[in-house]
Amino acid sequence: MQGHRSLIDPSDFTVAELNDLFVLAEHIIQHPGQYSEACKGKVLASLFFEPSTRTKFSFDAAMLRLGGQVIGFSDPSTSSVAKGETVADSAKTISQYVDLIVVRHPKEGTAKLISRYADCPVINAGDGGHQHPTQTLTDLLTIRNYRHRLENLTIGVCGDLKFGRTIHSLVTCMSRFPGNRFVFISPDELKMPLYVKQAVEQREVPYEETADLEGAIPKLDVLYMSRVQRERFISEEEYMRLRDFFVLTADKLKHARKEMIVMHPLPRINEIATDVDADPRAVYFQQVRFGMYVRMALILKLLNLAGKEA
Ligand code: NCD
Repeated sequence: MQGHRSLIDPSDFTVAELNDLFVLAEHIIQHPGQYSEACKGKVLASLFFEPSTRTKFSFDAAMLRLGGQVIGFSDPSTSSVAKGETVADSAKTISQYVDLIVVRHPKEGTAKLISRYADCPVINAGDGGHQHPTQTLTDLLTIRNYRHRLENLTIGVCGDLKFGRTIHSLVTCMSRFPGNRFVFISPDELKMPLYVKQAVEQREVPYEETADLEGAIPKLDVLYMSRVQRERFISEEEYMRLRDFFVLTADKLKHARKEMIVMHPLPRINEIATDVDADPRAVYFQQVRFGMYVRMALILKLLNLAGKEA
C-alpha cells in the first residue's frame, strides 16, 4: 500500500486540513454513536518505546470507541527490537499485520524513519524532545472550544521550553494562524530552542522571552504550563534545582483575565498547585477528553474513513 498519509509533524497537515479535522472531532463529540463502528475490522499497532499513560490510553480508547482493535507493546524489552532487529525491519513487519501504526520513541526522528518503511500510515506519538503532533491537535481543539478561535491570541508557554516537545509542536503550529503572539516563560537554562524561534520568526510572529510568570499572566489569553522534563536531563542535581522554578497558584491566577484558560499536557508534577483545579479557567482535565476525540478524527482521516460513518 503506497501513497498513505502519516502524521509526523503538525506541518504535515495544511491549516485547512487541521480545521476539517477539528470540525470532524466536534461532530464526533456531538454524535459518538454514529462513529462506534467506523473502524470495524481495522487494527491499530501501538508501539511505545518510551513510557506513556495518557497518550497510549488515549489512542487505545479512540480506536476502541471507533469499533477497531489495538495490538502493541508499552515495554520494548518484550519486543524483537530487544533482539537487535532494526527499526526499519520492525516497521515493515508490523505494518503487514495492521492498518495504522502509532509510535512513541525516545529518539528524535524515529517516527519519520518508521513512516518511510511501513506499508501503512504512521502517527508520531512523541519522538524524544522533538515533536508531539497529536498533543498539539488536542491543544488546538481545546483552544477552539474555549476561546472559539485559533487566531489573534496571546499564548504564554511556561516551564521547560528546551525539552518540552508538546511546546515545540504547539508553538510552531499556532504560529501558522494569523495574529497570534507568544510569551516564552522559562528559566534561562530551559529557554526555547533556536529552531523553534526561527520557525516563529520566519512567519514574523511576535514573541518575547521572560522568566517572570506573574508579570506575564495579565496579558495572556492562554497559559500553557509544562513540567520540567526530568528524563531529558543529564544531571539530577540540575533537574532538582529547576523543578519548582514556576508554580502556578490560585493566588497568581487572580491577575489573569477572566477568560484566560490554563492548559497542561499532563502529567503535572508541582507546576500547578491543586488549588488551581477548581478554577473554571483550569481546563487541563477537559483537555484530556478532547485528546481522545481528536485522535478518533485523526484515525478516520488517515484510514480514509472520514465521512463514511453510519
Ligand atoms: C507529554 C509528553 O509525553 O511529552 N505528555 C503527554 O503526551 N500527555 C508531556 C510530558 O510528558 O510532560
